[in-house]
Amino acid sequence: MAQPKNIVWHDATITKADREKLNWHKSAVLWFTGLSGAGKSTIANAVEAQLYALGARSYLLDGDNIRSGLNNNLGFSADDRKENIRRIGEVAKLFVDSNAIVLTSFISPYISDRQEVRELVEDNEFFEIYVKCSLDECEKRDPKGLYQKARAGEIKTFTGIDAPYEPPESPELILDTEKETVEASAERVINLLKERLVI
Ligand code: PPS
Repeated sequence: MAQPKNIVWHDATITKADREKLNWHKSAVLWFTGLSGAGKSTIANAVEAQLYALGARSYLLDGDNIRSGLNNNLGFSADDRKENIRRIGEVAKLFVDSNAIVLTSFISPYISDRQEVRELVEDNEFFEIYVKCSLDECEKRDPKGLYQKARAGEIKTFTGIDAPYEPPESPELILDTEKETVEASAERVINLLKERLVI
């Protein structure tokens, strides 16, 4: 991205490599993506609980929470979703620099937006995790009653109803929440982090 005018990047004295010496694990972004109701937040919370038990420094960025603060001026148009994901990506990058394992739970419906975030960090730091669940099942679950409102026309541009969701083409992991339990999914994420030597 182009450097804004009259802004000069200042390198910090203490670097990510320095911070890594204080921790026993690497930095990472666990990017959970999927339809509303697929189980992103539930699984991300279960993974974070396991990371905490292992003594890892982690932080969870969650859709509804970030939209209540940092991104409370954004709606659900394609442009606003893009800006939502761009800001989250920049925040995730800061967490990665702090040597944390950051978990993000956003629908993030567009392949191109997720790819842009991937490019913000190192190759071995980004893990795209597709929380897969059919629209039918998400609608049956409807934990917040939002699908019902969307079908009734009370919410416009609702993902899966009248706004698109582009599934990942080659995610690091696919968690099929119609077939596996939360515990099994969380275990698979932890195993992936072990295989990739993050933890
Ligand atoms: S996005 O697409 O990544 O910018 O969305 P995200 O920031 O993850 O926010 C999704 C949550 O917002 C609620 N919500 C909607 N979702 C999709 N479409 C529309 N129109 C919409 N309006 C409100 C909904 O609770 C989503 O939460 P999750 O956790 O995904 O169910």
